[in-house]
Amino acid sequence: MSFYSQDLVEEIRSGNDIVDVISGYIKLQRKGSNYVGVCPFHNDRNPSMSVNQPRQIYHCFSCGAGGDVFKFVMEYENLTFPEAMKVLADRAGIVLPERDLSGEDRRQADLKAQIMEMNRLAAKYYYYMLRQPAGKQGMDYLLQRQLSAEIIQSFGLGYADKYSNSLYQYLRSKGYTDQVMKESGLVQVDEKRGMYDKFWNRVIFPIMDTHNRVIGFGGRVMGDGKPKYLNSPETKVFDKSRNLYGLNLARRSRKPNMILCEGYMDVIALHQAGFNQAVASLGTAFTQQQSILLKRYTNEVLLTYDSDEAGVRAALRAIPILKNAGLTAKIINMEPYKDPDEYIKAEGSESFQKRIDEAESSFYFELRMMERGYNFRDPESKTAFFRALSGKLLEFEQGIERNTYIEAAAAKYHLTYEQLLRMVNQTGVKQGGLAKMPSPAVLSGRKKKRTEDGSLRSQRLLITWMSSGEQMFRNVRKYVEPEEFTDPLCQKTAELLTEQWASGKLNPASLFQYFTEEEEQQKVSAMLQDTIPALSKKEEEKALQETILRVKQDSIAWQTEHMDPNNMEMLQKIIQKRREIEKLHISLD
Ligand code: GTP
Ligand code: MN
Repeated sequence: MSFYSQDLVEEIRSGNDIVDVISGYIKLQRKGSNYVGVCPFHNDRNPSMSVNQPRQIYHCFSCGAGGDVFKFVMEYENLTFPEAMKVLADRAGIVLPERDLSGEDRRQADLKAQIMEMNRLAAKYYYYMLRQPAGKQGMDYLLQRQLSAEIIQSFGLGYADKYSNSLYQYLRSKGYTDQVMKESGLVQVDEKRGMYDKFWNRVIFPIMDTHNRVIGFGGRVMGDGKPKYLNSPETKVFDKSRNLYGLNLARRSRKPNMILCEGYMDVIALHQAGFNQAVASLGTAFTQQQSILLKRYTNEVLLTYDSDEAGVRAALRAIPILKNAGLTAKIINMEPYKDPDEYIKAEGSESFQKRIDEAESSFYFELRMMERGYNFRDPESKTAFFRALSGKLLEFEQGIERNTYIEAAAAKYHLTYEQLLRMVNQTGVKQGGLAKMPSPAVLSGRKKKRTEDGSLRSQRLLITWMSSGEQMFRNVRKYVEPEEFTDPLCQKTAELLTEQWASGKLNPASLFQYFTEEEEQQKVSAMLQDTIPALSKKEEEKALQETILRVKQDSIAWQTEHMDPNNMEMLQKIIQKRREIEKLHISLD
């Protein structure tokens, strides 16, 4: 549980309206009494996430993610509860009291903070060195690569001098221990030499996260030496698969797309030429986490991978990753140049803008690359190509999208739509096999499940009703006791709601802290998120009557099944309850 008082948690909650907070991360649209948006926790293009403002909770009907405002921030930012408290307290202008962390938590938090601070100091140090007389070689190199003073400044570029332990000495003067310095990746240890800097005699590219915090560095030799680039190793604060170079600037670009390239210099050259939506991965292959990260800021990604074999391979690997995250991918043709930096130097930005406008959709790019592996003069090879093409077309979801692409591909390869459609369907059958009929055993098993489902559905529906307002809560509570819920989760929720109500105020959002399992949280958020359609009073009484009856009957059935058959007293009670239920008449007043 948390280190903070419940009052403080509630104060922070009420200072952070869930719709405002989530709107800061994803686009929300009003729909009836709720807000909906595309869920950031699974790959989707449809608005499956619903945010309920009166109850201050969210729920995704597709992946089940759900909870209160703290949960959202924890999930989205990958934070612990205390960290999310801090973010939301800051947002609401609330000052958190000092708290006691457990020993290990404190050590980890301290270490992260120290590495972050060391990175910041190192970036400032390199930045300063670049502007000293001793940094002239670095500055000359950057200017020779035609970078403007302005862009050197905005990317915070720096210089590590010729001595192999300048930074080490500097950080030591700031009081850091060798042990902590090693954790930052900025300093290494060698038996003979002792402690020495990771970067020396290089120009330095600080790498920042989206909050503009320095998380690592790249360093380039000033000329032809090897290795051309050195990168910080992964550390407690530097995860190469979850960050992108330049995204701290690109996220504010307000362009309709993002440009994904390979190198730091490409990003910088593109920004300088006005394409401030450029980002690059961190010297490693593009990952799914990075594409989900991009999806926060854009729907379309333009690839500018090097126009050599390796670049094509990298693009072919990146395309499915982008599509998986619901992004549209296009490929910018850079021929005859190697990378965007060279292209812009040679042709200028207007010409590059044209290449952006003419970018090829990933589908056609994939087809062109696929064609290379087949010989169209050889009938057998040609057939094999069409089979591969059909497989590719099957990757599109059945329906309008797939048909559009079948039409386009048919036109491209001089086939009729029907011909290609037939091939696609044949390939589909071969790949998927025929759908199997379910066995009778499975069917009968399902039947039992269905009545259980009905019982569970009624109980959940009743919780939804109970959490929809004080008036309704009182109405339901007149007829139903928490013990009558046979589903443990519903029972616990009913108990908690009753406690809240007894102490003065229903607060569905604060229920989540009592459920620690992800699965429980998802179920609870689903119940609380569901809305009861607007009904007339009479219809509502009827629906409620049916639901309450069902819950009470199921409760009795459960008790009957689980009671000790020799317990006459209990049996009497149950019979009495049965009679009461028969006479039950719900009225909403
Ligand atoms: P310039 O030659 O400065 O224009 O580099 P570039 O931006 O064109 O980079 P290049 O296409 O050569 O490489 C792309 C990215 O791969 C770089 O930004 C680095 O992150 C990484 N990289 C390149 N060379 C090396 C290397 O020798 N070692 C490591 N670890 N990474 C490298
Ligand atoms: Mn280059």
